[in-house]
Amino acid sequence: MSAYELLKGAHVTAVAASYGLFLLRGVWLLRGSPRLHRGLDRILPHTVDTLLLAFGLALAWRTGQWPFVQPWLTAKLAGLVAYVLVGLWAFRGARTRRGRALGWAVAQGIFAYIVLVALTRDPLPFNWKL
Ligand code: HEM
Repeated sequence: MSAYELLKGAHVTAVAASYGLFLLRGVWLLRGSPRLHRGLDRILPHTVDTLLLAFGLALAWRTGQWPFVQPWLTAKLAGLVAYVLVGLWAFRGARTRRGRALGWAVAQGIFAYIVLVALTRDPLPFNWKL
């Protein structure tokens, strides 16, 4: 297995873990579960998202493609920042259940957009005509 394949496997595994944790924590959030913000939940999501970014940057280096050079990687990096910020707002900032649910849903929409950008290598994966 090449370094590229290993890094891509690690990146995509971190992507799946990040989404799985986000889904589970969202269910806890909307149910008002005491499991949120306790124990492993304090560090695991941040660790997984940091690994996701680190493997993504390592893949970029390995394939000679860079954010701010390749538009699709700029879109992914911006998308990741937006996903983290909207997620933080949903989990820490929003004061109503409706706000939390909205933030959780919007963050998942952003995540889906990033996956589409990754698969198509196109910042406009819906083929929108602007
Ligand atoms: C939530 C954030 C992210 C998600 C969901 C995501 C998702 C993915 C997926 C599904 C692939 C595999 C695509 C395929 O099989 O063809 C991939 C590949 C890749 N990702 Fe990410 N990614 C994210 C963030 C990033 C970031 C921040 C970077 C770099 C700044 C990055 C760089 C790359 C690179 C370089 C590849 C390999 C492209 C190639 O083979 O040419 N990703 N990503």
